[in-house]
Amino acid sequence: MNKRVAILISGSGSNMISLVEAMKNPAFGAEPVLVLANNPDAGGIAKADAMGIPTAIVDHRPFKGDRPAFEDELHRVISAHSPDVICLAGFMRVLTAGFIDRWEGKMLNIHPSLLPKYKGLHTHQRAIDAGDEAGGVSVHVVTAALDDGPILGQASVPILPNDTAEDLAARVLVQEHRLYPEVLKEFLNS
Ligand code: GRF
Repeated sequence: MNKRVAILISGSGSNMISLVEAMKNPAFGAEPVLVLANNPDAGGIAKADAMGIPTAIVDHRPFKGDRPAFEDELHRVISAHSPDVICLAGFMRVLTAGFIDRWEGKMLNIHPSLLPKYKGLHTHQRAIDAGDEAGGVSVHVVTAALDDGPILGQASVPILPNDTAEDLAARVLVQEHRLYPEVLKEFLNS
């Protein structure tokens, strides 16, 4: 029986696409049952529509900062698709324990740094500014503390002289698209 995967995005959805493409292989043992965005302008929604995957928008703005109300609606829409696992893929809303506890151990996130270094935003610039030799990406289980859950996989990418944050981000994204499907497959079979 295929495992059911919901993917949450806020932007272009390149990680979402790499997950969906990987799930096309029957040996992966999973299927995308929902692509959801909090941003009505997320480019990834049209891409998911074009791939025939059910999509939904739960815009956080009408909730005017009422996170529990936003998350209740998020939970209601996601639950209607009965996923076994939720993959956060460039989903830019910070979720509270109130939501995370309802999906405990069933939610993964991809973060563009070598955690535990550089939790939060602007990870590539911070690695460059610190003079690090490498940047990278981590896939972890989501827990109540931001970008802090058990790390399931990482990939390191060298920082080159004169690298800008954009240069590094582009090289890290290549590794993201390889790592996330790999880690998801292992997680689903564990
Ligand atoms: C990725 O770099 C991901 O690591 C981060 O947000 C970016 C989203 O990119 N959390 P995309 O929307 O998947 O292209």
